Amino acid sequence: MENLQTTYLGLKLRNPLIAGSCGITNSISNIKELAKKGVGAVVIKSLFEEQIHIETEKVIKNDEDGVTTFNHAPDTIFSKRIYDYDEAYSYIYDFARRNTLGKYLEFLTEAKNSVDIPVIASINCVSSQDWHSFARKIEETGVDALELNIYILPSDWRRSGEDNEKIYYDIIREVRNYVNLPLAVKIGFYFSSLAQSINKLSQSGIKGLVLFNRPYNADIDIDKIGLSHGPIYSTADEYIHTLRWISILSGHVSCDLSASTGVHDYKAFIKQILAGATTVQIASALYKEGFDVIPEILKKTSEWMKKHNFDSVDSFRARLSKSNLDNPAAIERVQFMKLYSGIE
Ligand SMILES: Cc1cc2nc3c(=O)[nH]c(=O)nc-3n(C[C@H](O)[C@H](O)[C@H](O)COP(=O)(O)O)c2cc1C
Repeated sequence: MENLQTTYLGLKLRNPLIAGSCGITNSISNIKELAKKGVGAVVIKSLFEEQIHIETEKVIKNDEDGVTTFNHAPDTIFSKRIYDYDEAYSYIYDFARRNTLGKYLEFLTEAKNSVDIPVIASINCVSSQDWHSFARKIEETGVDALELNIYILPSDWRRSGEDNEKIYYDIIREVRNYVNLPLAVKIGFYFSSLAQSINKLSQSGIKGLVLFNRPYNADIDIDKIGLSHGPIYSTADEYIHTLRWISILSGHVSCDLSASTGVHDYKAFIKQILAGATTVQIASALYKEGFDVIPEILKKTSEWMKKHNFDSVDSFRARLSKSNLDNPAAIERVQFMKLYSGIE
């Protein structure tokens, strides 16, 4: 096997292939298996901000008489009249928050102790309120880094692009106030000036950007004449969108770039690194092809490196990035005109 070592978020990785955050990384046995199969690091399934709110709703219930019922545990339901509602609510809220977090924190500690590769925690967040203090608790579990999946769909008519982008910076600032862990931020591509926004984000004190989160899309069922969900897993041709942006951004940003979405085989893995990715994350491929896709990607990459006389990942990273071009958009436009005008 060729030398695939790399450094991501300041962490030493044995190779740039990362198991991305998904349901698979929500289990200790899977995490152990992923490490055994060879991944360089693992991103744990996100703790969702909404999870905390949902759990809060579960433990507090008001009936018509204003009696508040606490469901501390399903088998010990008891009722109690509450005179100071605000105080009670804040108690319950904290209780729910502690418990949700408690479980996640225990899981992180166990994950960290189970494998000898870097373990990256993840929070899926939409606001900077109420959760930055527990980022410190995450740090105390001993995990190696924290990925913030900030996904703001710009669909609110009342909010400007500037309003939405401010949330990203508020979140990063708040979390940085509480933790020294290396931070990565995972984003979608809904920015009006993606290159500039990413460049600005890369200068906000984070160590890495994960490009891109794959947006959830609703679909329409024409038989039921109602909404259905779009495909949950990516397909192998979806890597191309991320490839373009990794290539455009490589060399222009002040942090590592981790490619995510549509990487299902060694070819797409190598392409992302050639475009300039520091690491590459996979999730759908793990579901669709199984965990053996990991040694397959690593083995084939190693063979490809040998064939092309590359003795390290660094020796071919960003070879095909667009960083030497002043305006890649102009080149792309010419290519687009040439290729698409010829089809009739
Ligand atoms: C079942 C499933 C669950 C996921 N859960 C999370 C999550 O909790 N947090 C997160 O940041 N991304 C989550 N993702 C997104 C993946 O990490 C990844 O960004 C996305 O699927 C695109 O990569 P892929 O083409 O390799 O699947 C999930 C993806 C899948 C398929």
